[in-house]
Amino acid sequence: MHELIFRNDYGRTPEGRAALKSLIGDIFGLDITPLDRLGHNPDVIAFGWWQGDRLIANVSLFRRVLWLCGQRTEAFGVQSVAVRPEFRRRGLFFDLMTRALAFADERVGLVILMTDSPALYARFGFRPLQEHACIATPDPVPGLRDARALSLADDADLRLVVDLFRRRAPTSLRASATDHPALFLLKAFTDGTIELVHLQHLETVVALKRPAAAPVVLLDVLSPAPPPLQDIAAALGIAGSTFELRMTADLIAPDATPLAPVHRGHMVRGPFPAESSPFMLSTMHI
Ligand SMILES: CC(C)(COP(=O)(O)OP(=O)(O)OC[C@H]1O[C@@H](n2cnc3c(N)ncnc32)[C@H](O)[C@@H]1OP(=O)(O)O)[C@@H](O)C(=O)NCCC(=O)NCCS
Repeated sequence: MHELIFRNDYGRTPEGRAALKSLIGDIFGLDITPLDRLGHNPDVIAFGWWQGDRLIANVSLFRRVLWLCGQRTEAFGVQSVAVRPEFRRRGLFFDLMTRALAFADERVGLVILMTDSPALYARFGFRPLQEHACIATPDPVPGLRDARALSLADDADLRLVVDLFRRRAPTSLRASATDHPALFLLKAFTDGTIELVHLQHLETVVALKRPAAAPVVLLDVLSPAPPPLQDIAAALGIAGSTFELRMTADLIAPDATPLAPVHRGHMVRGPFPAESSPFMLSTMHI
């Protein structure tokens, strides 16, 4: 049996990505092969314990850009936290998390993650965020109905979305993110209930769900100038409909009514000034 070796040089190499794909597939049952076509985030720093050429345990950081109370804020996200079952309860996760946070602390003031297991991260100083979706029924306005469903399986549609990501403005200055598109694209590609719709004359793509007999759920808005919700509704051909906005609504629907706070899995470590008033970060990521 080979001894375990620590490495942090594989986050963006083909060999490292193949090992991460295998670990994530084995532990979470998630196939990240589509990223080979959708585009990997080049800003992943992976920390791992290896046995020969097999990745045993991993914690990855990736660069994030958040907008919080008007400030552009560089942060790190945490992803791909996994230890192979036969190597658990030896402190490998604790070791990797400690190394990753030391790396992050030298560079940024904020680390953010999404988890179903908050107890795992509390000992590292992470605290759960309470977030508010909101509801709005914008007044119907006349507008050009001009909505085209996009398919990420189509190369031209994929290019369109990636180009808008490059040019997008924040959906909220109070609390939103303008990250690399990799995790958004993977989420949209793997969740068949999410629609991506191009509103051409608004130079906008919206991510949404349309549950039966419930408000339209607006998940994200990609645009160099995010339009008001009533213009989005008109372009979708559903003016006068009610929307649940899973994002901070200060720019696109300032009169929206916040719903009761919920914990959606986001945890932060470091100052997060938006906590003082209702906000919601997009969950358009795996
Ligand atoms: C969670 C996981 C990474 C822990 O790896 P590990 O190397 O066994 O962890 P460590 O040995 O460093 O530490 C284990 C500690 O975490 C605690 N722990 C493990 N899983 C936990 C969970 N789901 N919730 C809360 N605490 C947990 C253990 O009680 C232990 O605490 P102790 O040191 O006080 O005994 C591993 O079990 C795993 O890969 N699980 C499946 C994937 C997963 O859940 N990833 C996190 C998704 S956000």
